[in-house]
Amino acid sequence: MSGMIKKAIFPAAGLGTRFLPATKASPKEMMPIVDKPMIQYGVEEALACNIQEFIIITGKHKRSIEDHFDSTFELEDKLRKSGKKELLEEINRLNKFSIAYIRQGKALGLGHAILCAKPFVKDEPFAVILSDDIIGSEDTLLKDMIKLYKEVKSPVLALQKVPRSEIHRYGVIDGLKESKGVYKIRDLIEKPLAKDAPSDLAIIGRYILTPDIFDILEKLKPGKGREIQLTDAIRKLLKKRPVYGFLFEGKRYDAGDKLGYLKATVDLALKNPELSSKFRSYILNISKSLKET
Ligand code: G1P
Repeated sequence: MSGMIKKAIFPAAGLGTRFLPATKASPKEMMPIVDKPMIQYGVEEALACNIQEFIIITGKHKRSIEDHFDSTFELEDKLRKSGKKELLEEINRLNKFSIAYIRQGKALGLGHAILCAKPFVKDEPFAVILSDDIIGSEDTLLKDMIKLYKEVKSPVLALQKVPRSEIHRYGVIDGLKESKGVYKIRDLIEKPLAKDAPSDLAIIGRYILTPDIFDILEKLKPGKGREIQLTDAIRKLLKKRPVYGFLFEGKRYDAGDKLGYLKATVDLALKNPELSSKFRSYILNISKSLKET
């Protein structure tokens, strides 16, 4: 098994019910945050780690994801003729790498989505990116996880401390701190009630996994919400090999949630060179009027 992480799986077959009706006929992953669809942030994060092969697990109404990462002759021709070089380069960047699309068919859970990628991953370690979780571009979470993977040669899960009131929305770990930011996982449980949560360390949407997870997923029975849960598969994997957690202390937006989506939009617009100055004045203005009311 090589130590390099060359492939990333993007589960994107979910129904996006939290964003209905916006997601009735178009994918949540294509909802824009400023000027890029949500999924593109995760793809760029992986490209920055030299990952060049992508496996996107799709379902119904997800065609536009495929179109987004494909070449568009008419558009490129128009941009070329009108001398819009920078936009052309930006658009061209999106079809420079290899992407395989797999239809999940039925939304049977995150674990099942990962299992669908088995024929493409074969015998290599790989990354999993949940594109709802947007990581600030100045943070190096995935890079740091890959670095840790190269040392431990075992799965690495991204962790973040979350308030007790939110813990029921996540997979939660029980772990032993090994060194700064690194935990050896003792147990993990999918979406526990706050009173049953073993810690406040939640699993967030970045994983480095090893291919032995597939054999477990193949035999796994549905868990929480009657879905095949990745957390349950990793729990079984723990009996065979160590699994590590990497504590992320940077900025994460849960863009799968309306408030998180809005926060991501505001923060990223404030960082956007084209928008920041005008948008900042606007925000300052409305915050003044909000104080007055
Ligand atoms: C999934 C996982 C959960 C994890 C979360 C991170 O849940 O099942 O363990 O904590 O992603 O975003 P979902 O958000 O798909 O319900």
